[in-house]
Amino acid sequence: MSSLVGKSVLLVVSGGIAAFKIPDLVRRLRERGAAVTIVLTEAAKQFVTPLTLASLSGNKVYDDLFSLTDEIEMGHIELSRSADFVLVAPATANIIAKAANGLADDLASTLLLATDKRPVYAPAMNVRMWLNEATIRNVAALRAAGATILGPADGVMACGEFGPGRMIEPLEIVDGLEKLLSADASATDRPLAGYRAVVTAGPTREPIDPVRYISNKSSGKQGYAIAAALAAAGAQTILVSGPVDLAPPDGVSVVRVETAVQMLAEVEGALPSDIFVAAAAVADWRAKSVGAQKTKKGPKGPPSIELVENPDILATVSKMKKGRPRLVVGFAAETENLIANAKAKLNRKGCDLIVANDVGAENEIFGGDKNRVAIVDKDDAQQWPQSAKGDVAERLVALIASRLATI
Ligand code: C5P
Repeated sequence: MSSLVGKSVLLVVSGGIAAFKIPDLVRRLRERGAAVTIVLTEAAKQFVTPLTLASLSGNKVYDDLFSLTDEIEMGHIELSRSADFVLVAPATANIIAKAANGLADDLASTLLLATDKRPVYAPAMNVRMWLNEATIRNVAALRAAGATILGPADGVMACGEFGPGRMIEPLEIVDGLEKLLSADASATDRPLAGYRAVVTAGPTREPIDPVRYISNKSSGKQGYAIAAALAAAGAQTILVSGPVDLAPPDGVSVVRVETAVQMLAEVEGALPSDIFVAAAAVADWRAKSVGAQKTKKGPKGPPSIELVENPDILATVSKMKKGRPRLVVGFAAETENLIANAKAKLNRKGCDLIVANDVGAENEIFGGDKNRVAIVDKDDAQQWPQSAKGDVAERLVALIASRLATI
């Protein structure tokens, strides 16, 4: 199955009792690496609060079509088009009827009319409503328009009746989305079939003593999304990952490491490859000596820690005399003079492309689901618009494929 890492899901929640399962669904989507934006109908707010969903999704929850600020911030058309998936869960008989007939009298139904994606519905309703002629017609119309209907399951309903109508479980919905992604991926071209790729991602963790370490705020999301996109494009992909909270992307072999020295050794072990992408935020320094026991607080005050330089993995691979990958891509996290600093880094490290991102505090790149990057090579710099990390990954992989085709 393909991975949801870096994908964005617009989740429309309509007003059924199954809405109580939506916090769990949001949690599971995020666990798989997806970014979730939620739209609630007025009825859904009776079952689940915008505040709960905003804190679980980490994003603003939308519920008012006519809010001027939302319209300025992000119009409803944009909201429905910027997502990779539009998922309606639970999908009541009412929202299914509105969508099947093109009604648009609130934000949720307007989005379903405006989207250019083929929505996925997880219906939840009373068994008689599900088996009603009108619902059968409406579901058939949605299917005919390309929608996917996941479920419903048989079971005892909240109202006490038995039969089809229960929303399928959050995990089954997430699996359903991943299956759809796989089907899409296998239907499209695989321009990197036959290529090998090595990717680094996440932070490194440099021990000071058995319980303390130096690390950084890298979430690994961008690197994981790149590995997922490389694999989806057909490359045999090895991801050398520092400690992160992400599931391995489908089709990618993940090697987990802690320190920069281990990361370099595993990268060297994974080569040769055609492509090397260094997305890891490798710690620049490590403690010169690591205490065998936990350092105790004492009368002498805080200890000083002597640091030594870590190996530069990107520069080491870029400057390999024999067996250098054909395309080496580095990252530059900068807080000022983005392009100029990225160009200087390209020369210093000897790589072919730099993905430069502005990690100034206001941009929330670290840990966030979106990224705004500039792509720098020896001749050129192009700024890409802010988009989901999955989209940045796909665009980067398309660029890698076209470069490889011409060198
Ligand atoms: O020098 P700086 O850390 O800014 O360079 C960033 C780029 O170099 C990233 O691609 C990062 O993965 C890579 N890097 C590395 N090994 C290091 C330091 C950085 O591979 N020790």
